[in-house]
Amino acid sequence: MKSLECSAGLERRRVLLKTFAQKFSLKVRCSCFKIFYIGFLKNFFQSINEEPDRHILEVGIGFGDKTSAMSDHIKDPKKLYGIDIDPERIKEAQRKYLEIKLDYANAINLPYPDQLMTAVCFCQSTHYLSSDDLEKALQEASRVLKSNGKLLIIETFKFRRKILDLLLIPLRQLYQYTFGAGEYYNITEEEFLAVADQQGFSLQENMKESHWLYSILISNTLIFDKKS
Ligand SMILES: C[S@@+](CC[C@H](N)C(=O)[O-])C[C@H]1O[C@@H](n2cnc3c(N)ncnc32)[C@H](O)[C@@H]1O
Repeated sequence: MKSLECSAGLERRRVLLKTFAQKFSLKVRCSCFKIFYIGFLKNFFQSINEEPDRHILEVGIGFGDKTSAMSDHIKDPKKLYGIDIDPERIKEAQRKYLEIKLDYANAINLPYPDQLMTAVCFCQSTHYLSSDDLEKALQEASRVLKSNGKLLIIETFKFRRKILDLLLIPLRQLYQYTFGAGEYYNITEEEFLAVADQQGFSLQENMKESHWLYSILISNTLIFDKKS
């Protein structure tokens, strides 16, 4: 009996600690995104702002903070959309950001008509997709994008050299513990580029060329055009 109470107490403490770590890491990551990262995306915002009727979708929106931060740099966005497979995150995002139209949906089956979106963004969400689902999700992104639409990928890719990957494993485990939302399918940038190419996207900008240290240590950013 006593040991049951003790393990329930431990579990409560573990959940409290995890909730605190999640909130803390979210705050830190969102502040970093707003202060440093958003500046890396100036070409992306510029090409979007040249388009009429801007419809922007984030796939795997989480708590909505990045879409909201990006929307400050998009001229008069017609509509912001976000989907997530986790109903709790959608509920929390909706509570904070009334301006975003949120849907509980899977990346492999987007609830939008063909050619509606000016841009589709995946911020740290493609690593939750198996290789089959990644293909389907990019196919769906291509379907909902306008003919000259942009695909924005912010992702931490696997290193080609195993030794570098081994060094990052403890960091990734910490990330999974605090912010994880499912199994982590980690692929290399080259593997990702091959899938994107196969699904009709051509690489327009690879942030590794301008911000290589950030791209290697934290996450890389790839901007694609939908091939016509
Ligand atoms: C690491 S979080 C990133 C959240 C947000 N994009 C950010 O950068 O702060 C990844 C999100 O992708 C969502 N996700 C995972 N698999 C998904 C799927 N198949 N379809 C839609 N969302 C998915 C998770 O629920 C989670 O909220």
